Amino acid sequence: MNRAEKEAYLRKYELLKKEGKPFFPYAVMKDSTMALIVVLMIVLMALVLGAEVGPKADPTTTTYTPRPEWYFFFLFEVLRVIKPSYLVPLATIGVPTIGMVVLLLLPFFDRGPERRPERRPIAMTVLVLTVASMAYLTLKGAVAGPPSAIDVKVAPQYEPGKLVVAQSGCLACHRLGDNGNAGPGPELTHIGARIPRNAILRSLAAGPGVMPSFQDFPPKKLNDVADFLASLK
Ligand code: HEC
Repeated sequence: MNRAEKEAYLRKYELLKKEGKPFFPYAVMKDSTMALIVVLMIVLMALVLGAEVGPKADPTTTTYTPRPEWYFFFLFEVLRVIKPSYLVPLATIGVPTIGMVVLLLLPFFDRGPERRPERRPIAMTVLVLTVASMAYLTLKGAVAGPPSAIDVKVAPQYEPGKLVVAQSGCLACHRLGDNGNAGPGPELTHIGARIPRNAILRSLAAGPGVMPSFQDFPPKKLNDVADFLASLK
């Protein structure tokens, strides 16, 4: 802001100040009254309508898909696609914090008097890019598969086995492609190239080490799993 602009601004400010009413108590009174009405409305609605209670929690479910509220989908998606664990704090705490600090400091480094959007190309570009990337991440987060899903392309006849593996808790101990935990079990991504189908069946029945035995699975399920794993070359 140059000297002439500053003087023009101060003159306008003086004029407005003479015409207007002070913030305290006029505006404060109005705001407080409205806030009180809103809170009373919420209390009244809670008393009359009650709060919705969802279905009872089932701790044994293996098909439940945990999801945040939709307005957190963009952060959820960032967290989902970032695999290396040392980058997670940077993405979830670092980047949003930097963004907020930049916003707080904005009045100090953007001191131009211009208010029209078409005369502020940098601010508008940043705004459009931010909104577009948040919209894209929100959309991706909304259509993301459940955490038990296995993102590995297989021939149609191996899909049933893939589903059984996804829903039987195998990923809690095994990594398969981009899904599952890195231990305590060995990676299954190329298990078919490492051991033959009957060895896979033996492991499933025996439950080596900490792995539970899956001997009680119906034979069709066991065979589907073995077919699927043996196809992972
Ligand atoms: C509690 C953790 C756990 C779960 C759940 C689990 N596993 Fe395992 N699995 C292991 C461990 C640990 C080993 C290695 C044991 C050893 O060799 O001593 C293993 C070994 C295997 C092997 C043999 C791998 C090799 O290289 O020899 C196969 C195949 C296998 N698991 C498949 C499965 C499938 C399929 C499921 C789900 C139906 C499953 N596992 C569930 C922990 C687990």
